[in-house]
Amino acid sequence: MKAKLVAIPTILNEAGNLSVLELNSGLEFEPKRAYFLHGVPGQATRGGHAHRELRQFIVAVNGSLVVKLDDGFREVAFTLNNPQEGLAIEPGLWRELTDFSAGAVCLVLASAPYDEEDYIRNYKDFLEWSAAQI
Ligand code: TYD
Repeated sequence: MKAKLVAIPTILNEAGNLSVLELNSGLEFEPKRAYFLHGVPGQATRGGHAHRELRQFIVAVNGSLVVKLDDGFREVAFTLNNPQEGLAIEPGLWRELTDFSAGAVCLVLASAPYDEEDYIRNYKDFLEWSAAQI
């Protein structure tokens, strides 16, 4: 699976913790966009698409959620519940985000500006596209 959990350098302190991502060196890509999901109902599913080229780094900055990834052959689920780590996701993976806890906030850093053309929003199209990449 072209995804991995990455530790976010964190300065721990009795007065609170500080986690830092240097945007031009702390990730394997230089983010061009940040967005965050919040107020997501516990029963909601976000995602339901793949990206052709976009790389992303996802952090549960508060609460928890599950990121289910599918490369066309197998599925892997990551539970994100620690602001000291993020999930780095390479292109070409179908993803679904579920099980948001109350108050969960999910920060996403992305390698490119928003571009609807980069999305594959139909699972059958994704499987066909994915098979053609090999
Ligand atoms: P989408 O990426 O499908 O959300 P999710 O994967 O979290 O379920 O985007 C939802 C809507 O928001 C869609 O209409 C496109 C719009 N959108 C933007 O305009 N800019 C963005 O950067 C993103 C991520 C989405």
